[in-house]
Amino acid sequence: MLTLLNLLKDGRFHSGQALGVALGISRSAVWKQLQHLESELGLSIHKVRGRGYQLAAPLVLLDPSKMAEMLSEWPVAVFDTIDSTNAEALRAIGRGQSAPFLVVAERQTSGRGRRGRKWVSPFAENLYYSLVLRIDGGMRQLEGLSLVVGLAVMRALRKSGVDGAGLKWPNDVLVGDKKIAGILLELVGDPADVCHVVLGIGINVNMQVAEEVDQKWTSIRLESGRACDRNVLVADLSEQLQTYIERHQAGGFSVLKAEWEENHLWHGRSVSLIAGVNQIDGVVLGIDNQGALRLAVGGAEKTFSGGELSLRLRDDS
Ligand code: ATP
Ligand code: BTN
Repeated sequence: MLTLLNLLKDGRFHSGQALGVALGISRSAVWKQLQHLESELGLSIHKVRGRGYQLAAPLVLLDPSKMAEMLSEWPVAVFDTIDSTNAEALRAIGRGQSAPFLVVAERQTSGRGRRGRKWVSPFAENLYYSLVLRIDGGMRQLEGLSLVVGLAVMRALRKSGVDGAGLKWPNDVLVGDKKIAGILLELVGDPADVCHVVLGIGINVNMQVAEEVDQKWTSIRLESGRACDRNVLVADLSEQLQTYIERHQAGGFSVLKAEWEENHLWHGRSVSLIAGVNQIDGVVLGIDNQGALRLAVGGAEKTFSGGELSLRLRDDS
């Protein structure tokens, strides 16, 4: 099916006969595969009598050799379809694959967000990226790591033409009030000794319609007005991650705190912090040297950290 897609990806018309010859299959087998492309991958294909078949929009697929050329450091596994790049990364750690390494995919059938939520992951439109690191320096190397990843993602987005990309504590990347990227860190092993961390990153790249996403969202293409080559984005994102992770490992989170705060879109805003059924109202003062959120709550300063916390803007902010 993907061989057929490779023939069609130029966005031109191809006759059923030419496709059949190129693939060594009958015209009716071509027809069946085309139907699969539509039903399984959600692609739209124009069928015009006398001209043949054409993808509604040309596609630039993930290209392992193009990526390998641009990525100096990390081996990368590219999947057409995977349940979740984070799940695959965890399986690879279980098989003993040595880190660092990268897993990317054209689509995810069970893309996951924080707290078991679903991450909408259509074929060939966005970036689904998981980087695995081995951590053997104890807790300090994990402190604030998810915020550091947010900074790297924000820089890569700005390089791709999304000037307004900013951060929302703890690790969302937004443009205004619209989500453009999400980050999910998953950890295996003993965080106080040797462990592996999967840095899962989803970036909306060329997506223009997504009825399933139940909150405000945007994409690189919607913001910049241009289609973005995800192979280049993988290289840019990897370069930013490498730089920020090195700085974090060398100096701890405190060396990145000021830069993070400067880019926090909700600095000084009135917010509600949600922790399960509990809600705390306050004003955002900043973060501390470990990346915990500092809020002014009823005249006193309080700090909050933990993976299960969510921030919401208050109406009066
Ligand atoms: P918070 O972390 O503050 O609760 P959030 O509401 O964005 O923020 P997350 O768990 O971080 O929640 O993200 C998962 C949510 O993201 C899903 O519930 C869904 O609304 C949304 N979502 C799913 N896929 C996408 C996507 N491709 N782009 C933007 N948002 C998405
Ligand atoms: C969130 O905002 O809730 C986090 C979303 C993280 C999505 C990415 S896509 C690549 C990686 N694989 C997953 O299943 N999730 C992360």
